[in-house]
Amino acid sequence: MSLSVERASLKLGGKAILQDIDLQLAQGEQVALIGPSGAGKTSLLGLANSSHTPDSGRVTVLGQQPARLGARALKVLRSEIGSVYQVPPLPGRQRAIHAVGAGQLARQPLWRSLLDLWWPAQTAAIAACLRQVALPEVLYQRCGELSGGQRQRVGIARMLYQAPQLLLADEPVSALDPLQGRQMLQVLQDDARSRNATLLVSLHAVDLALELFPRVIGLRQGRVLFDLPTAEVTPALLQALYAGDETVAAPALDIPVFAGSSVSGPRC
Ligand SMILES: Nc1ncnc2c1ncn2[C@@H]1O[C@H](COP(=O)(O)OP(=O)(O)OP(=O)(O)O)[C@@H](O)[C@H]1O
Ligand SMILES: [Mg+2]
Repeated sequence: MSLSVERASLKLGGKAILQDIDLQLAQGEQVALIGPSGAGKTSLLGLANSSHTPDSGRVTVLGQQPARLGARALKVLRSEIGSVYQVPPLPGRQRAIHAVGAGQLARQPLWRSLLDLWWPAQTAAIAACLRQVALPEVLYQRCGELSGGQRQRVGIARMLYQAPQLLLADEPVSALDPLQGRQMLQVLQDDARSRNATLLVSLHAVDLALELFPRVIGLRQGRVLFDLPTAEVTPALLQALYAGDETVAAPALDIPVFAGSSVSGPRC
């Protein structure tokens, strides 16, 4: 298993955020995580990337329990876990080439990282990753000069450059238009598929989750409401998932369900 969460619960600020979460992701699986705002999607991804430790239960990532690892082993494990954030934490003065190059920081000694910040040895590889997200022109641009959507794509390029075994993406296309959002998800899927890596993506775009992913997990109020092959996710389940959430337009819940779609994206 790439990710195993067993009866895990998480409290933050004294508040119960996740309760009794059970899920298993086999190597190479591609799974979408959906649910209303505040359901706990980001918190669950935080358990998976070891930025949160469960208060009870167990989380095993790539065969190891982060909570039991020392600093050095945790760093090695984290180098195999890639995270894309909705708002990528990119320093405004940092150039895109360094932001993407940082994807490999955990894999190399400090002296090499410092040298690379000054003079990236992997410029061609970094440029190729920016081409994959359709941003070849921003290589030497400062992140603070990029639009929200461009910053999101730099965050995706950084994960492509990292090439981790477990890819975790939290609303990775929320700042992109629908066409570009679909394309970027396909870039992530193609990358994961080509390396038999595992992909878990949280999405507000339910239509993209159902269209592109073979398995969907619905999270509501900190609990897994369903964890099903996409073909078994019914409109009634989606209604139950988003009940009382006015931020999701009714028609969005009326979308036809695509059975195990295998859309193939452009390879770069
Ligand atoms: N550090 C924190 N301290 C206290 N509560 C927190 C903290 N982080 C998140 N929460 C709470 O945990 C709940 C789940 O938050 P989370 O960000 O995981 O939801 P989400 O499903 O990702 O929502 P969204 O779709 O809006 O991103 C929310 O009620 C939120 O207020
Ligand atoms: Mg979130």
